[in-house]
Amino acid sequence: MKVAVVGCGYVGLVSGIGLASIGHEVVGIEADQGRRDRISAGSPPFYEPGLRELLRSELERGSFRVSGELRLTAEADVVLLAVQTPAGADGAIDLSYLAGAASAVSDAFAADPKRQRVVAVRSTVVPGTVDGVLAPIFGPEVAVASNPEFLREGTAVQDFLHPDRVVVGCRETWGREALAELYAPFGASLFLTPPATAELAKYTSNAFLATLVSFSNEIAHVCESLPQADVEDVLGILHADRRLSSSSETGEGRPEILSYLKAGCGFGGSCLPKDLSALIAAGELHGHDLSLLRAVRTVNEGQAARVVASARDALGGLGRTRVAVLGVAFKAGTDDLRASPGLRIVDECLEQGASVVIYDPLVSDRALDEYTERGSVETADTLEAALAGADACIITTNAPEIAALGELLEGGGYPELVVVDGRRVLDADRFDDETQLAVGRARVTPLADHAPLH
Ligand SMILES: NC(=O)c1ccc[n+]([C@@H]2O[C@H](COP(=O)([O-])OP(=O)(O)OC[C@H]3O[C@@H](n4cnc5c(N)ncnc54)[C@H](O)[C@@H]3O)[C@@H](O)[C@H]2O)c1
Repeated sequence: MKVAVVGCGYVGLVSGIGLASIGHEVVGIEADQGRRDRISAGSPPFYEPGLRELLRSELERGSFRVSGELRLTAEADVVLLAVQTPAGADGAIDLSYLAGAASAVSDAFAADPKRQRVVAVRSTVVPGTVDGVLAPIFGPEVAVASNPEFLREGTAVQDFLHPDRVVVGCRETWGREALAELYAPFGASLFLTPPATAELAKYTSNAFLATLVSFSNEIAHVCESLPQADVEDVLGILHADRRLSSSSETGEGRPEILSYLKAGCGFGGSCLPKDLSALIAAGELHGHDLSLLRAVRTVNEGQAARVVASARDALGGLGRTRVAVLGVAFKAGTDDLRASPGLRIVDECLEQGASVVIYDPLVSDRALDEYTERGSVETADTLEAALAGADACIITTNAPEIAALGELLEGGGYPELVVVDGRRVLDADRFDDETQLAVGRARVTPLADHAPLH
């Protein structure tokens, strides 16, 4: 099929070259000239495992090309909209990029107005967007669908090429059939629904993941006041529940969902925080107070400060100290800094008077210019360089290069360094409890010093 993808960011670029790789003819439409130049030179504008190789092979085969010309969407059978849908100042979704792109596509269709086409929204949008905002922009010969994407950064290419579900929320039969055909080679479970169901299903998935993370962090808070409890053990026992793992009797095949039932620095990235806020705001608009989800957000917003407080308490204050923040991307395997817990931790350290050195193996120095130009922040190329002269270090992502800290500590090279394991990547049983701290694990102090928990 002939496909146009509007917006060549994480979702659009991966979708575009992924669809090209299964035999479709794809043009990616991208507004940003710098991004276009990099893509057409075979160099993705962001890091994603396997993306560069796939992009280069599809460019070479001629099955994928990139352009800034929205009028090219008129040649496509299916147009995918994959532009950003950020949170506005009040937390509600900002649909201006999406509505702008849809209007431009509608104008392009005017060249051949009788042709039946499908416009599918890959961006995450609140329920009612397709029916209430987008469908009215097009004429009746255009089927507008919600077709949310579930890929995760860090495994985006694999997720796209091996989807667990394809969701098509579309009223018109021809629209459903065209999208079913587009994704048929993947052989994934296909859900055909009204648009609002598809739209809400995406938010439901992200709100559920966010809830698991904040739930785990609340249990961690309790553990931190119980000297003999460790959240890793507590949640490990939860993980063994056979209702969470069909194969738990054999101990094999850990479901990936369990990685969200883990304490840490909180969730971040371009999706979970903004989607949670958008869903809360959409609920309010319909007269629902989504109090559980508001609590999930509140726990998350406080988590970075809690992690930094561990370092502060161990050092007796952060003024004039040097803190190494190990990881600033929102998770391992990506260089995406959007809503990153690591950057919240950097900000918190700076506010408390520390100077900060950042080490993240995937994040370029340029991406951190805004921080380093402010002073009090520098970057390091290696873990050892980050630790040189540091009073404390805080682990904020589970990248293997950062987990290597365990070996350095075991070598005994940093006897005075306060280590805060904000991701639970180190082996806590080998900790020196006075200087090595972890989310969800109390420093060892006599039981009598702690009030019993009733
Ligand atoms: N990043 C993820 O992991 C992920 C996963 C699932 C869903 N989503 C959702 O997908 C959507 C896109 O997310 P993303 O991370 O790919 O965003 P992104 O910011 O990386 O990419 C959006 C791209 O669209 C381009 N663009 C904006 N308006 C345009 C226009 N009129 N014409 C052409 N190009 C235009 C921008 O320049 C940008 O390159 C969001 O709604 C997001 O919530 C993201």
